[in-house]
Amino acid sequence: MVFLLQIRIFDNEQQVASALADHIASAVRQQPGIVLGLPTGRTPIATYAELRRLHAEQGLSFARAVTFNLDEFVGIDASHPGSFRYYMEQHFFGGVDVPPERIHFLNGMAKDLDTECIRYERDIAEAGGMDLQVLGIGGNGHIGFNEPADELIASTHRVTLHAGTRRDNAASFGGDPERVPREALSMGMATILKARMLILVATGAGKARCVERMIHGPLTTRLPASFLQMHRSAAVYLDRPAASLLAVE
Ligand code: PGA
Repeated sequence: MVFLLQIRIFDNEQQVASALADHIASAVRQQPGIVLGLPTGRTPIATYAELRRLHAEQGLSFARAVTFNLDEFVGIDASHPGSFRYYMEQHFFGGVDVPPERIHFLNGMAKDLDTECIRYERDIAEAGGMDLQVLGIGGNGHIGFNEPADELIASTHRVTLHAGTRRDNAASFGGDPERVPREALSMGMATILKARMLILVATGAGKARCVERMIHGPLTTRLPASFLQMHRSAAVYLDRPAASLLAVE
């Protein structure tokens, strides 16, 4: 079978993180002004740790890079430990040299959330679009916060989170899914798919089923990640448990 998606399978999570960090590092070295789209979640934590190490030990510099995060919760600010802005400060920005003015975030506290989404799309376009978009995948197949639905939205928009997604994010809200905001702002499907290169990363057996559907299944709005199959330059980095249901193993 011919896969348009490039699939890379590693023995364990740490190898996934090293390979992904190496790819990002070489992209940044080749193109210091690179525009990076960045994810949050448990999966990329080890990759960010590796990038901080490369910065500290090998002088990898992000001084000219530009970043756009995929999504943010509505109604909490950057000082809230559950916010993605806070996560990024802890795991990445606090340990590398991206200048603050080059870091872009959706503001979930904006008075007018629709205008905020339009602003974000405009800022991405003005930066020339993403050169490299890194993605996680939700257990339900979401990318960013584009949740499975009858219809998907192309551009950055306001999202009502599914109960399962709120449960998955409960850890940074005192373990209580009820305290996880009901809404978020997210890049849309086209915002993501317009990136010149995409890398989706998934680890652990809990992701095996959605990874299998993403790669072998039909394109469906019920599994937003399946649209990666249409991208000309997309790669999927997996550990063995996440790849365990793939026919390519
Ligand atoms: P996770 O989240 O890395 O915490 O599993 C992935 C996602 O929801 O995109």
